[in-house]
Amino acid sequence: MTDTTHGRKTGTDTGLQAAWRCAVCGFVFTGETPPKSCPVCHSPSQEFVAEQERARLTYDGEEPFDVLLINGSTHRAGNTGYMADLAEEVLRERGVSYRRFNLTEHHIDYCWCCYAVRAGSCTYPCRNTTDDMPAFHQMLAASKAVIVASPINWNAMSARLKTFLDRTTCMENLYHLKKPGLTEGKVAGVLVNGHEDGAIKTAMDIWLNFEQMGYVLAPFGIGFRTHGSQFNSSTDREFFRSDELVLHQVKGVVNNVIEMVQLGIEEKLKGKLVPVTE
Ligand SMILES: Cc1cc2nc3c(=O)[nH]c(=O)nc-3n(C[C@H](O)[C@H](O)[C@H](O)COP(=O)(O)O)c2cc1C
Repeated sequence: MTDTTHGRKTGTDTGLQAAWRCAVCGFVFTGETPPKSCPVCHSPSQEFVAEQERARLTYDGEEPFDVLLINGSTHRAGNTGYMADLAEEVLRERGVSYRRFNLTEHHIDYCWCCYAVRAGSCTYPCRNTTDDMPAFHQMLAASKAVIVASPINWNAMSARLKTFLDRTTCMENLYHLKKPGLTEGKVAGVLVNGHEDGAIKTAMDIWLNFEQMGYVLAPFGIGFRTHGSQFNSSTDREFFRSDELVLHQVKGVVNNVIEMVQLGIEEKLKGKLVPVTE
């Protein structure tokens, strides 16, 4: 029932008892249930996932879907995860097909920055085929909309989300290289939460990435909520979960994304857009 070692181990390394890995820091705990909180990074028990060999993410491509929902937080079940949960509720209620991913559970390498060496070297598919990003590329191309949720970190998006967005350069670069694109006319919605400040800047940074890929921002397509620097961040969790405004913001953005998808905006714009990229 006790802890074992700090570090990434596989289920087979940990003997017969169930093993739980903290998705935030990698600490592995052995026991029947996950611990109340992680002794290393203090994340709550919801951050623990059953430890197992992690296969590379794949997308079968057989089931195109409407919305790709990305939780860009280090926490799978933190405040950003809560926003993603609310978004999922609306998507389910509206009968929209979607797939949700918590980036913290995925292996995404830093961009190799081939574009910085030579524009033509950054091509689709991405040269790095060793991590989960190729499947995300395929899902970005297959879905009609993306909803991205991020915490504010130093007035900017999370580093995890930034790494993810850097890796979309190969899709954005298709337009720069005057090759057929894969994302123009798709719809984007952005959700941001933080403790005190920087929400709009963060949302705009995220949006700009998608704008360069030809996405259309849904009307009222940015929702954000911060708590307040006068409060201890330990109270944020409870605050967000009982706050009417966060509910209104998330439900509104998701509704507006769905309305755009159901207008068939991507199809309507096909062949009519002039790519304007840097
Ligand atoms: C490194 C770091 C930087 C942060 N910077 C900001 C900030 O600039 N503005 C803000 O409002 N909150 C900031 N926060 C607070 C988080 O945005 C806030 O705790 C958020 O709700 C965390 O979401 P999560 O539960 O999904 O991790 C920061 C947190 C961390 C860890």
